[in-house]
Amino acid sequence: MRARGWAIRQLDAPEPSGLRPFARKPLDGIGRTLTSLAVMRHEDIWDLEAAQEYDTPGKGMFAPEVLGPAVDRLEELAGDGPALEFAIGTGRVAIALAERGLPVAGIELSRPMIDQLRTRADETTVHLTGGGRFVIELWVPELRKLPPGQQATVFTSEPGYIGLDTYDVLQQHVVSHHFRFGAGRQARLFRSPHRYIWPAELDLMGQLAGFQLEARHVDWSGTEFTAESRSHVSVYRLQDAS
Ligand SMILES: C[S@@+](CC[C@H](N)C(=O)[O-])C[C@H]1O[C@@H](n2cnc3c(N)ncnc32)[C@H](O)[C@@H]1O
Repeated sequence: MRARGWAIRQLDAPEPSGLRPFARKPLDGIGRTLTSLAVMRHEDIWDLEAAQEYDTPGKGMFAPEVLGPAVDRLEELAGDGPALEFAIGTGRVAIALAERGLPVAGIELSRPMIDQLRTRADETTVHLTGGGRFVIELWVPELRKLPPGQQATVFTSEPGYIGLDTYDVLQQHVVSHHFRFGAGRQARLFRSPHRYIWPAELDLMGQLAGFQLEARHVDWSGTEFTAESRSHVSVYRLQDAS
């Protein structure tokens, strides 16, 4: 089904992105080799291959048990809308929201991701007004797993897949490495660089932009956020200018 009610903006950015909304989940089906992170540009990451392999209908991040609670919660928070998704990608979340009748718009850097999205969506325009909400799903950097001298953490290890992060704590920078392999000696590698943000820092960034934290949970179903939590869904409320 084609979703209605869209505005998708492409932004030009010289640097790769910072936030990774579901960093703890491997990116199904994406893999290739990059020679140097120094030359890694945004278009090297979210390129045609990544865009074409991103959608995994019914599986991984597209599984109903993963996507359903996120869409339920966002629909509840948005009221009658409209909603704006930053880094909309191929429209995984936004299309599901639009199909429920909510006007949705998106901002996205990658042309191939937008092209993929546009195979399923057409356009309109929205903006956030006073009293609106900003909702973000983000991982908690695993800094507590880094003793002095150690620079990497393994976040997933399972048959055929290893995910590890390498940290530069001075620059507040992390690179995620996703290794996929079979029985042979070859592996496929997908890497993505990010600037990481601690939850309290995010709250301060929100305050500077006029937002107040309204709720923080581990997931879209409202599970309590604790010191052990590895991710968070945070809801901010835009303060009225008056
Ligand atoms: C992991 S995908 C997530 C897509 C979608 N939000 C979802 O949940 O499926 C990350 C997307 O963020 C986009 N992106 C990263 N940094 C961005 C930025 N600064 N501005 C706009 N889009 C950005 C990438 O191009 C990519 O399409």
